[in-house]
Amino acid sequence: MEEKNYILVTGGAGFIGSHTVVELIKNGKTPVIIDDFRNSSREMLNGIEKIVGSELIFHNIDVSNKNDLAAIFTKYSINGIIHFAADKAVGESVNNPLKYYKNNIGGLINCLECALEFNVENFLFSSSCTVYGDPEGSTTVTEESPQQDANSPYGATKQMGERILSDVVKSGVNLKVLNLRYFNPIGAHESGLIGELPIGRPNNLLPYVTQTAIGILEKLTVFGNTYNTPDGTCIRDYIHVVDLADAHVSGLDWLEKQSNSTFEIVNVGTGRGTSVLEIIHTFEKVSGKQLNWEFGVKRIGDVEQIFADVTKAKNLIHWDAKKSMEDAVRDAWNWEQKLRND
Ligand SMILES: NC(=O)c1ccc[n+]([C@@H]2O[C@H](COP(=O)([O-])OP(=O)(O)OC[C@H]3O[C@@H](n4cnc5c(N)ncnc54)[C@H](O)[C@@H]3O)[C@@H](O)[C@H]2O)c1
Repeated sequence: MEEKNYILVTGGAGFIGSHTVVELIKNGKTPVIIDDFRNSSREMLNGIEKIVGSELIFHNIDVSNKNDLAAIFTKYSINGIIHFAADKAVGESVNNPLKYYKNNIGGLINCLECALEFNVENFLFSSSCTVYGDPEGSTTVTEESPQQDANSPYGATKQMGERILSDVVKSGVNLKVLNLRYFNPIGAHESGLIGELPIGRPNNLLPYVTQTAIGILEKLTVFGNTYNTPDGTCIRDYIHVVDLADAHVSGLDWLEKQSNSTFEIVNVGTGRGTSVLEIIHTFEKVSGKQLNWEFGVKRIGDVEQIFADVTKAKNLIHWDAKKSMEDAVRDAWNWEQKLRND
């Protein structure tokens, strides 16, 4: 086995994983990336290599395959795991729940079993603000805010994932877990070499905006303008993906300093809410392009407004978001243009 402290990054070719790999390398860590490209492409790894100027350690492995996964732990002395690999399309999860339970829960269990078998103590999990559901009363959620029943199998896999991790830590094993609840990641690396790569029709707002602007999609529909918000459209806490990536580096540093088993939950957002119309207006300002959009009817299940209380992120892992909405929109537009032109 090679003697070095490696960080295993599952799903490291994906949107958040790829940006996290860049920040890990910038901060002196050595990631071992695994991905089977079910929702990404080898091009993302090429982009990372151009940004960091070195070759990556990569293995094309399905996390659901325990033997293949265990072989990675035999080959490298892994010091921490960042588990991104999961399926994430809410709508698809309603139509094909078993796919989500199998991959998101099965993959997590395999990673945890390997962590315990190979004495890896540091574990970072990709959770989501979806675990809060529609927050009653306040629109700002802390890590203690009550959770609602998940309104999709995808959301349920995040709630269950958190529960599994918490139960495993409670069982008395040697494991330190940081559960990061992401709000709404947007943007791309400022180089334009990596970014979000939606396969098929995008599920998220900003790729929809940029794909409409570049002419792949004809029109953007804004679902509902009668919400109880200043401009009537839904409000979310959008976080630049590079800031989010950076939260993983801070989180890992924090985990490595803990001497006892622990399970902590941290919201990763900006603490600010932005409406759909504000995003459209920011896009038009940053790009100088007029966007083709219209109002449509409300979608069932859309949360009116939710954003993060980020006090714990600041106090516990000493992280906060630095980039602005304009940065995120500019970087996403730059990425979309490079992607289509190359
Ligand atoms: N993007 C968001 O809006 C968001 C919000 C909250 C939480 N999350 C969570 O963050 C994580 C990363 O999300 P993302 O936006 O980067 O998604 P993504 O689809 O871009 O990245 C996930 C990566 O994991 C890979 N993958 C999936 N299953 C795999 C398996 N069994 N074996 C190997 N590789 C596998 C995919 O090919 C992909 O490269 C996911 O767990 C997701 O649920 C995402």
